[in-house]
Amino acid sequence: MTPPQALSAGWWALPSWAPIPGLGMLANNAYLHAGREPMLVDTGMGMFGDAFIDALGSVVDPADIHWIWLSHTDPDHTGNLQRILELAPCARVLVGVLGQAKLGLSGMDVSRTQVVMPGDELTLGNRRLRAVRPPIYDAPETLGFIDDAGAMYTVDSFGAVLPDVTPNLDDVDETTLRNGMVAWGALDAPWQADLDPALRERRFGAIEKLAPSLLMTAHLPIGTRTAGRLPKAALAANERLPADMQALDAAVLARAAQGLGEMAMA
Ligand SMILES: [Fe+2]
Ligand SMILES: [Fe+2]
Repeated sequence: MTPPQALSAGWWALPSWAPIPGLGMLANNAYLHAGREPMLVDTGMGMFGDAFIDALGSVVDPADIHWIWLSHTDPDHTGNLQRILELAPCARVLVGVLGQAKLGLSGMDVSRTQVVMPGDELTLGNRRLRAVRPPIYDAPETLGFIDDAGAMYTVDSFGAVLPDVTPNLDDVDETTLRNGMVAWGALDAPWQADLDPALRERRFGAIEKLAPSLLMTAHLPIGTRTAGRLPKAALAANERLPADMQALDAAVLARAAQGLGEMAMA
């Protein structure tokens, strides 16, 4: 975990980093809106456990959390869910319909979940937000949102594997960002290599048209001017993805084989 970062319009980021063996480091952010009826957005990775709870507790009393926006049920987004539900007895979990089903299948009590559909508008404390399906996702239940201050959460879209922990996105140059987005795209949502170019432009162009005042992503460091920068970088990365996919697959396979060899020697 790195220290929580205050953003605009009442938002906080709760950043952490995880290694992607052989490729680099991946940011993993949860977010918190600390206004009336505080809302936690995703629950971090279980591997950080106490450190995540401590970071959260430095910004808000977990007992005051009213809402947990669960973008989807991947473990990098649900890691500390059960623990936070125990610390926040009044909190309700907002989740897509398939996400709710997946939580139930995993054995979780879903009585505190509330299903949200793309396009739903919700009033939560002193803010309104609309649920949106991000341009790229790795689980069909994935839901981000845009709130009435223009803050948008795009979940796994716009992620990048970076060479090292880089707390400020403004310190990442365009080539490094694009290469990192290609690597993340190949790992996380390889289906996007088959996107028709016109559809690809529509998907990312829609974010540019929305012009969010704050673009929050799960897998990039926090930076400024993201709304003007990330859709363009993602489009450039997406165009390269089909050509680079084979090389990336080979690199990941080689690293996996090396890892198995190391395990065999241990
Ligand atoms: Fe995911
Ligand atoms: Fe993710």
